Amino acid sequence: MIIAIDGPAAAGKGTLAQSLAKHFNYAFLDTGRLYRAVGYAVLQAKEDPCDENAATRQARTLDPQNINKILSNPALREEETGKAASKVAAIPSVRAALLDLQRNFAQNPYLENGQPAHGAVLDGRDIGTVVCPKADVKFFVTASDEVRANRRYKELIEAGKTTDYATVLKDIQERDKRDSQRAAAPLRPADDAFILDTSSLNALQVFQSALDYIALNHE
Ligand code: DC
Repeated sequence: MIIAIDGPAAAGKGTLAQSLAKHFNYAFLDTGRLYRAVGYAVLQAKEDPCDENAATRQARTLDPQNINKILSNPALREEETGKAASKVAAIPSVRAALLDLQRNFAQNPYLENGQPAHGAVLDGRDIGTVVCPKADVKFFVTASDEVRANRRYKELIEAGKTTDYATVLKDIQERDKRDSQRAAAPLRPADDAFILDTSSLNALQVFQSALDYIALNHE
């Protein structure tokens, strides 16, 4: 069983993906972290995330054996890393370098304790369209720009960062634009995705709608 969850930044896909993975005891992969790991490695090497050669080299040297450790680096959560991730993600050779890793995970999912799982939940931008076009269930999780910026702003303030709402809104809109308008695997809902607009729902309501959809369509 493969559950694909796509959508723009801060729409609530990560929260939903983790709740579903926990509920069904499925493995979970936040594919944004892979792009973040590449963006981070490029920044660490003092190179430009838009530089095709630099970004591709970093994507190809991500060690699949060591992936859990690489993806657990807290620096990957930083806004700067997110921005760099969105830039490296527009480069087709970077996407190609990360594709097998994602597909292998979906086909042979394993839990954090290393045990094999009966299913996988992957979240990202192109899971239902490119990585797992045959996924059993596809969600496209979205919300208005303002709601997403507000959520991200609150998260940042709670984490002790100094920022303002207008900057967060502008960053989110820039990132969405880059992610949706790129030629390679742009952010868009798969034709068979269930669109979940979370603008006026809390995390529990989103989870419940997703469970209802799965129960009606796939159990
Ligand atoms: O979900 P996130 O904010 O961690 O993702 C960081 C960036 O990575 C995002 O701006 C676009 C890119 N990304 C992608 O292009 N494809 C994916 N499957 C996941 C993320």
